[in-house]
Parts: sequence; C-alpha cells; structure tokens
Amino acid sequence: MSDGLEGVIAVHTELSDVDGEAGRLILRGVDLEAIAGTESFEGILMHFWRGLVDEPAVAEMSAGPVQQALGTLRGQAYARMLDLNRHAEGMSVIEALRFALASLADDAPSPGTMAAAAMPVFTAGFSRQSRGLEPVAPDAGMSHAADFLRMLHDKRPTAEDVSALETYWATVADHGMNASTFAARVVASTLAGMTSSVVAGLCALKGPLHGGAPGPVLDMLDEIGSAENAGPWLADALAAGVRLMGFGHRVYRVRDPRADVLKCVATSMRRNDNRIPLAEAVEASALEALAAHKPDRPLDTNVEFYTALVLEALEIPRDCFTPAFACGRVIGWVAHISEQVSKGRLIRPASEYTGVVPELH
Ligand code: ACO
Repeated sequence: MSDGLEGVIAVHTELSDVDGEAGRLILRGVDLEAIAGTESFEGILMHFWRGLVDEPAVAEMSAGPVQQALGTLRGQAYARMLDLNRHAEGMSVIEALRFALASLADDAPSPGTMAAAAMPVFTAGFSRQSRGLEPVAPDAGMSHAADFLRMLHDKRPTAEDVSALETYWATVADHGMNASTFAARVVASTLAGMTSSVVAGLCALKGPLHGGAPGPVLDMLDEIGSAENAGPWLADALAAGVRLMGFGHRVYRVRDPRADVLKCVATSMRRNDNRIPLAEAVEASALEALAAHKPDRPLDTNVEFYTALVLEALEIPRDCFTPAFACGRVIGWVAHISEQVSKGRLIRPASEYTGVVPELH
C-alpha cells in the first residue's frame, strides 16, 4: 500500500468509472462524450440520482419538475444567504460557501437537492458581496445554469454561455473515487447526514491538488504572457520544483478525456479568441517539458487546464472557480452519499503502526 492509496479499490459503485490507461470516463453507463454538451444540469442530475437519491423534491423523474424543485430551493437558499452574509465578511468565496453550506440542516427535507440548489446561490451571492455588489435574487423559472450566470453577473446569459457551463458541469459531475467523493463517502458511512457529507466533499475539493487548480492555470498563462516565453518559463518552473497546474493526474496515464471536451467548448467561445493561441502554445511546451522532466511518469493535460479558459470566458471571477466546480460535482457527491448510505457499512480502514512500542512490564 502506498500513502496515496493508489490502486486500492475502496468502494463498489455503479456511478462512474475512470479508465486511466484508455482515457475513458463512463458516467453511470454512458460515455462522457455522449452526455456532455447534450444534457442540461437538470438532466445530468436525474441521470445520476434516478432510483438512488430518495428525496421528495426529485421524485418526479423528468427534467421539468426537477428544474422547478431546484428553482424553489434556490429561493430558500437565497433567503438563508441574506441572513448569513454579514458573518461572511472578509471570507474568500470558497470559505463563505463552506460556511453557508454547513449552516444547512442534515435533517431538512431533500437535503441533497437543497445542497445542489444552494451552491450557485451562495457562490454568486458571496462573490458579488466580495466585489461590493448587491446580491441578485434567483429566478425559479430559469434553468439552474442560466440562473447561476444571471445571479453572478446580473444579466441574462446567452444560450452559448449556458451551454458552455452545462457542458463544464457535465464533465465534472462525477469522477470515480476522487478525494472529495471519497471524503464525502467516509462521512456518509458514519450516518452523519447528507449536508455534513457534502461539506466534507467541499472541504477536500478546496485544495489546489484537487479542485483549486484552474485559477492558478490562468495565473500561469498571465505570467508566461507570450508563446515565445512558454519554454523558458516552464523550464525554470520545473527546475524550481513547481508543479505545473492543469497537468498530471493520479489515474490517467493519457490525456484526460474531459480536457478534450472542454477544449472544444473553450475554442468555440468568441471571448477566448485571444487566449487560445497562447494556451495551446503553453500546453504543447508543458507536455514537452514534462516528458523530459519525468520520462518514466506520463504527465498529460488534465481537466483543469481548459476548464480555466471556459470559466474565464464565462467571466466567472477566479476566486469562484473552485465553487463553480463544486456546483457541478455536487451531483456526484449526493449520488455517492446515497449509494454509500444504502450499503450501510461504516468505512473504517486499518493503519500500520510505525511508532515506538513500549516494553511490556
Ligand atoms: N508538474 C510537475 N511535476 C509533476 C506534476 C505536475 N503537474 N504532476 C506530477 N508531477 C511529478 C511529481 O512531482 C512527482 O515527482 P517526484 O517523483 O520527483 O516527486 C511525479 O511527477 C509523480 O507525481 P505524483 O505526486 O505521484 O502524482 P500524483 O498522482 O500524486 O499527482 C496530481 C496527481 C496531484 C494531480 C499532480 O499531477 C499535480 O499536482 N498536478 C498539478 C495540480 C493539478 O492540476 N490538479 C488538478 C488535478 S485534476 C482534478 O483533481 C480535478
């Protein structure tokens, strides 16, 4: 066993499979490419939750009623945010999201649906607060993705932007036994409750080795500045022991399939016209530099590299990137938490003691 538990099968799940050698991601019986770009947030949610998440709010198995249920709960989450926002002064957006999410009850009706509904409301509201702007109330009649962008920017989003966000959320909805999903399942296995388990997932996602990479990807592109500077900048960074954000993955030994889906989205967005040539040059240089730096360890582009460009083109502030990731990943967390609870088995692995053993007297 290694300290990162790589290769250890920790759970049996019907929710997703990451084939790191083939670069294939199966999302509950469907390939990523078949679902990303075609399904709305509501459709993806039903795809994962159907028959698994036993909550009255999603008992109706079609996207229309689910959109209404999410819309109604976004309204309740907004009222909660208005109650909490003065306590969130000075917090980063991700900390404020964690704080507000943790205030939701475990025993509320439909806590999983509430967590999914509340994430974009809290993210948009606390982001606007941090920018000195008034919050924008949700519109229960809009789709979840459209309403998130509207609450964030206070303007109706274009169909292109809504579709880009929905494709992004589909790519991150679930991804095997990643650190945040594992954390959520461990807490769920103690029967601590849905909200507590989702908060555990969010806490794990916050770290730069998991969900915190896309902001630093843009910082890196800004610092590099031009295609000519990519090679020298990346060589210096690797020589200094820096990990290049947006590259490498615990499971994939080839290119992350989500990177391809998101590259298509990023290149189709007009606001990215100036970014794409630089990003492509940096990606090519980084892959070359990483191959030379670690010849025995395939390090390829991961989901976060082109995520950064999609989120930037959507004008989502950098400090909202990880919260925006959570808005999509909450679908997977809630499904995994429900699956874990249905198994009814406490997760409690063993450890090997390496400390001092006192002598027996
Ligand atoms: N840049 C430079 N070197 C790297 C990178 C990278 N992006 N990734 C791995 N390496 C190096 C490591 O330093 C290590 O070198 P060492 O043996 O000399 O210590 C070697 O490659 C093997 O790396 P591991 O640490 O074993 O790889 P691990 O599976 O733990 O890492 C991780 C996966 C954390 C994603 C890593 O590749 C990384 O830090 N990437 C940058 C951050 C990032 O993009 N995170 C988002 C991941 S996707 C997601 O979670 C949604």
